Amino acid sequence: MDDPNLIVGMERADDAGVYKLSEDLAIIQTVDFFTPIVDDPYMFGQIAAANALSDVYAMGGKPLTAMNIVCFPIKTMDISILREILKGGLEKMKEAGVTLVGGHSIEDSELKYGLSVTGTIHPSNVMTNIGAEAGDALILTKPLGTGIINTAIKAGMANEKLIEMVTNYMARLNNAAAEVMQEVGAHACTDVTGFGLLGHAFEMIQGTGKGIIIHASRVPIFLEAMNFAEMGLVPGGTYRNRDFRIHRVDIDPNVSPYLIDILFDPQTSGGLLIAVPGEKTEGMVKKLKERGIDEAAIIGEVVRNPKERITVLP
Ligand code: CO
Ligand code: CO
Ligand code: CO
Repeated sequence: MDDPNLIVGMERADDAGVYKLSEDLAIIQTVDFFTPIVDDPYMFGQIAAANALSDVYAMGGKPLTAMNIVCFPIKTMDISILREILKGGLEKMKEAGVTLVGGHSIEDSELKYGLSVTGTIHPSNVMTNIGAEAGDALILTKPLGTGIINTAIKAGMANEKLIEMVTNYMARLNNAAAEVMQEVGAHACTDVTGFGLLGHAFEMIQGTGKGIIIHASRVPIFLEAMNFAEMGLVPGGTYRNRDFRIHRVDIDPNVSPYLIDILFDPQTSGGLLIAVPGEKTEGMVKKLKERGIDEAAIIGEVVRNPKERITVLP
């Protein structure tokens, strides 16, 4: 049944659902949880919370309340680990100005944690993942390569300094990026997560008749991820992402194959990918940098042709 108040529903792969309550208020709802990607339980809590909150930011909204989702192997794991995870999550919620209102936990052989989040937005300010127009620039707000570096961490190939750096990036909220996006005005937005940059970029043009050009050399990438990718240290998810979308991607012969791997690397709590009208682009990048998002970069543009294809140039 069609509900006239449903602004964003399940018909598209968008970041969250949006439902209109009144002429000037809509709620945003999303849920996200996963298994640990770092050893430190406190930081895992922070990352899982930042990741779940990100889908509200990707819609241009403000998160308001959240509920914990916990799967915990109580028979085999010390409860202090769960306490640390919840503490990390709560710290992130506080930083985001979000109130924890409840939650649910079950016993499970595998530890999982995340949040269901409710946010608010004015119905006319909703940033869906479609709506980009030819001539828009594409801005990315966090470097790529967390999937590759997490694989290196599991293989024991990352040093403490690298682990700390990438952990801090994954724990970083996309709140400032979302605020700047609303201040300056954008056409479309999504956050870069499991499908990688090219997977989520494709969602922005799927069914729209537009195309995208990505300039690989302008994409912010962790230097260490480049080195690991060159060595072939790439998670299975990267290849699944690549196999799923590669027939929609045209690659300039001067682009190294390992760079394509990075562009398909599944990200945890990645940055926002924002389509901005050409004349507003420089202003947005300037404001993002003023808010401490130093890595924000213009990585490509939306084009009329070729339709529903991504062209990767050097
Ligand atoms: Co998302
Ligand atoms: Co999500
Ligand atoms: Co969005």
